[in-house]
Amino acid sequence: MPASKKKLKIIVTAGGTREYIDPVRFLSNASSGQMGYALARAALKAGHRVTLISAPTALTAPAKAKLLRVVSCLDMFRAVKKEFPRCDCLIMAAAVSDYTPVKTEKRKIKKKTGLLTLQFKPTPDILAWAGRHKKKSQILVGFALEDKNVKKNAESKLQKKNLDLIVANKPDAIAAKQSAVLLKSPSGPWQALPYQSKQRTAACILRMIEKLFVEN
Ligand code: CTP
Repeated sequence: MPASKKKLKIIVTAGGTREYIDPVRFLSNASSGQMGYALARAALKAGHRVTLISAPTALTAPAKAKLLRVVSCLDMFRAVKKEFPRCDCLIMAAAVSDYTPVKTEKRKIKKKTGLLTLQFKPTPDILAWAGRHKKKSQILVGFALEDKNVKKNAESKLQKKNLDLIVANKPDAIAAKQSAVLLKSPSGPWQALPYQSKQRTAACILRMIEKLFVEN
């Protein structure tokens, strides 16, 4: 690492959170965690310190990362709240569940005839919380998963959540080995990265983050 380059403390969240309905069933999504883990590897390779806050995945965490395993959105929120004040950058690559069951049954729900109705309540938005609490020196990176009006919706998340960088992608990126993403900072133009491996995409995102630090 060049002497001029600051060694950053970066938190990366990854994977899809699980919201348990009963001891054996949960609400989640198809996220594999690959993008978050690729970002953690890219940051370590560039010489930064990494805390990886990971929802359940089938992936092996990089040995040099500080790994915090979480399950639900609330677990992830607690871990982020604890780590965030001491970091230079938070990258929320996790696919966080927007809803959680109103009640988690202590016992397995038994099969009955007829319809089953479950109630869900909103979870806290971790990224929006970080946007409200970040210091001027901290860089906040969010993802936006959009199936229509990609740039418009992602830009609205960039502003509403007070982010320094948004990475927009489409549902076909979920659990895929490759993806094509769009990047935007509040003052810069949209930048389209080619369809490439998530490890290459992660390296590009990291370079953009390092540039934002120099400009900040
Ligand atoms: N996010 C979060 N906490 C949540 C939900 C999402 O921190 N409870 C973060 C994600 O990690 C991601 C960003 O917010 O970095 C955007 O997530 P996305 O699912 O695209 O959008 P939402 O804000 O959940 O809005 P919507 O689902 O309506 O598009």
